[in-house]
Amino acid sequence: FSVAKQRYRDPEAVEKMNPFAEQEAWEEHQIGKATLTFGSKNRKKAAEDYDYVFEDQIDFVKVSVMDGIDEEPNEAEEAKTISKGLQEERKTLPIYPYRDELLQAVKDHQVIIIVGETGSGKTTQIPQYLHEAGYTKQGMVACTQPRRVAAMSVAARVSQEMGVKLGHEVGYSIRFEDCTSEKTLIKYMTDGMLLREFLGEPDLASYSVVMVDEAHERTLSTDILFGLVKDIARFRKDLKLLISSATLDAEKFSDYFDSAPIFKIPGRRFPVEIHYTKAPEADYIDAAIVTVLQIHVTQSPGDILVFLTGQEEIETVDEILKHRTRGLGTKIAELIICPIYANLPTELQAKIFEPTPEGARKVVLATNIAETSLTIDGIKYVVDPGFCKIKSYNPRTGMESLLINPISKASANQRAGRSGRTGPGKCFRLYTAYNYYNDLEDNTVPEIQRTNLANVVLTLKSLGIHDLVNFDFMDPPPSEALLRALEQLFALNALNVKGELTKTGRRMAEFPLDPMLSKMIVASEKYKCSDEIISIASMLSVGNSIFYRPKDKQVHADNARMNFNTGNVGDHIALLNVYNSWKETDFSTQWCYENYIQVRSMKRARDIRDQLEGLLERVEIEISTNLNDLDTIKKAITSGFFHHAAKLQKNGSYRTLKNPQTVYIHPSSGLAQVHPRWVVYHELVLTTKEYMRQVTELKPDWLVEIAPHYYQLKDVDDPTTKKMPRGQGKSAL
Ligand code: CDP
Ligand code: MG
Repeated sequence: FSVAKQRYRDPEAVEKMNPFAEQEAWEEHQIGKATLTFGSKNRKKAAEDYDYVFEDQIDFVKVSVMDGIDEEPNEAEEAKTISKGLQEERKTLPIYPYRDELLQAVKDHQVIIIVGETGSGKTTQIPQYLHEAGYTKQGMVACTQPRRVAAMSVAARVSQEMGVKLGHEVGYSIRFEDCTSEKTLIKYMTDGMLLREFLGEPDLASYSVVMVDEAHERTLSTDILFGLVKDIARFRKDLKLLISSATLDAEKFSDYFDSAPIFKIPGRRFPVEIHYTKAPEADYIDAAIVTVLQIHVTQSPGDILVFLTGQEEIETVDEILKHRTRGLGTKIAELIICPIYANLPTELQAKIFEPTPEGARKVVLATNIAETSLTIDGIKYVVDPGFCKIKSYNPRTGMESLLINPISKASANQRAGRSGRTGPGKCFRLYTAYNYYNDLEDNTVPEIQRTNLANVVLTLKSLGIHDLVNFDFMDPPPSEALLRALEQLFALNALNVKGELTKTGRRMAEFPLDPMLSKMIVASEKYKCSDEIISIASMLSVGNSIFYRPKDKQVHADNARMNFNTGNVGDHIALLNVYNSWKETDFSTQWCYENYIQVRSMKRARDIRDQLEGLLERVEIEISTNLNDLDTIKKAITSGFFHHAAKLQKNGSYRTLKNPQTVYIHPSSGLAQVHPRWVVYHELVLTTKEYMRQVTELKPDWLVEIAPHYYQLKDVDDPTTKKMPRGQGKSAL
């Protein structure tokens, strides 16, 4: 690793970047080997002073240094001091010197692949350059992002840079939230939203440029967009296509887009020391907390970025860090904790970009979003537990689950790179070097190869694309998964036997929801309970953040929650009760507070509901209410979710009906203690066990009535209720 490090042995440069660097170099000589436990001297001293902080310690070994990419170390520093105001700051970004070349390339070619290190300015600058060059006179510039938070936050930033109001010239569009207007010229949007725009405008006539950003993430929607934009580019010669990526696998994109030229933006990255734990860590959450505190007390100034897998983990770490640094007074510097995840309220999202005050240190607790989508300046230390939440799908059983999985080597290196943007950085991997080299996959498998495709198949079918097997996929999905999706849509009555879209299917495609949810909504017409069903659908769409359960008031919170489940109506109806009660109080915040309900989530549910109501009108389903007959509501739910039916076993577990698998009712469910014989569930989550979340009781004969293609009497044969020997029941069929 010495080559990269050597360049920074220039004493002045080292002094400026890292006051401890010299000392560590010295230690290294003394020890006389390439490994070094980090900051050991400082840590010991710190440990004496702050016993409280160090309940535990973790030993790291430095194993390698990730090379910096070209550039002199001082350049970024110089660039920083020049920055005056946002317009000046724009000129300091690595992409700026290539502005004119890039615009020339866009002029000369219809499709360009752009590659540049995260933070070089691709997302925020390229759309502005295109605007400045006049492209927005012919149509909007679209820039897609795999994540909602990224689309919102980048749009906010660019509107600031351009000095316009967000939603005017610069806007964003994410599911259930359209912040654009007639004035909009630059539109940031999730890849899923652009995909939906094809439904209304198959040639994307309102756009002059489409930039598919973060292409390396290979989300399902991005992969489908590739096929669609490649196709329209053939007959819309005026449409410019930019495919941008933060990693170097650009050749693959270029090959796919008929050898499109690759435009490389040379990055600026400083060397990053990689430290691994000496031994595997049993609990990465705990290890992450300990590491953050170790860095805070022993390492030179610079902010910390911690990668966690989701909101729950982030909240836990946030709480514990606050607790452990509370009451330390002036003993150690202030630690400012900034969480960032998809459901974080917009006002709080801005906090991560605020410069850290002198003498304090910021620790950003982020999901994968900070890997490449968002660049946070000032990060010098990265803590990487090595995990992320990933959707996995088993086409054989049709089961989809969110699992916490080890990341790939490519991800690990992206994460480490976040610490070397403005000076040399350090990355603390909470796994061993052996793990890294031997256990991690090289790359993450594209989402298209590990997900349920029903939604995509429905969208493609409604775009008139019937021959899915020959669709121009960059990496085709497993044919088994395609077949499963077709089967599922057929069972939902969205496709007919020839695989053509039915009227139900056409209506379902109007809803930006999973096909099971949209089927439930379309079915509510028949059961005359569309009013209730869209409330339930919006509450389910908000996710798992309706109920609030503070640690010190769990009993109160649980009681409040059970009140909505009076009569064991089940979790779906309980959600409906929450919504209706809130509505009765005229959407009172106080009421939410008293009932341990998150008002923010409720407001979001209300927004979603308003939109679903609008969509009902579009597919000509009348609003009707049927609150007196809960069974009809449950039947409408079953019409969408009959694939998710399960039956109680003798030992208290459940077995899914088709493709049997053992599952349990989630402890947070109102029915967890009730054990109904037959249930339908919203989703499976795997934690310690495979749990069903959002559960409602069901009568088995509904399954045969509602989904005769899918269930026969033998599937719902229930010897205990029919009092008939099992063999006999079967032979009768
Ligand atoms: O897309 P790419 O990773 O190449 O870079 P970018 O997202 O355009 O970021 C360029 C610069 O804008 C970085 O220095 C970010 O810190 C800054 N930025 C910001 O301050 N606030 C945002 N919401 C987004 C970017
Ligand atoms: Mg970007």
